[in-house]
Amino acid sequence: MTYQDKWAGGVLDFGYRECSERYECVRDACRDLFGDRAFHARDIGANVCYFGLRLTSDFPGCRVSAYESHHGAVRAARKHLADHGNDRLTLADSKVTLDMISVFDHCDLILAMSVLHHMPEETAVWIDALRGACDHLIVELAMEGKARNSHRRNVLPVGAKIIGHGASHLEKAMRPIVYMEGK
Ligand SMILES: C[S@@+](CC[C@H](N)C(=O)[O-])C[C@H]1O[C@@H](n2cnc3c(N)ncnc32)[C@H](O)[C@@H]1O
Repeated sequence: MTYQDKWAGGVLDFGYRECSERYECVRDACRDLFGDRAFHARDIGANVCYFGLRLTSDFPGCRVSAYESHHGAVRAARKHLADHGNDRLTLADSKVTLDMISVFDHCDLILAMSVLHHMPEETAVWIDALRGACDHLIVELAMEGKARNSHRRNVLPVGAKIIGHGASHLEKAMRPIVYMEGK
């Protein structure tokens, strides 16, 4: 079983993390931000590309660059994308680092859903770096409990807006999904 559901116009295989309600927050934000305009999104920690598949399906002008570092997840994603992917979604077998972020071309949107607690650096450092690489940033933050490094404080910049909450398979508290402007 994968972390995310495998999406193919509907759920083909359920993962162990709730995906659709979290995606709906992202989709609604994209409708407000981009309407019918084309946009380029990067999805950091894309797992089996649930968000990329849904964004490219719902937004004909959307292109997604997805990054995933776990080889098993990349294998599962590639197998799934072979039948259900599209040419506006690319997946890199890649461990994203702060150095990489600093040389990314500026993009319209970065998604960093439930991934910042995996990073070796503090969440605030990542948020600052990610905001510098995009116009719009959406993150989902682990709050407490069993998630790795979830003792970390989520220090958010002024203007950060909670746009939803994701049910977690690990902790009791819902994980906030937060929108921030890039810079
Ligand atoms: C907790 S899962 C979240 C998956 C997805 N973003 C979601 O919210 O459904 C974190 C994912 O990020 C991947 N990951 C962790 N660190 C990463 C990094 N530095 N670069 C790319 N992927 C990473 C993990 O392998 C895992 O698939």
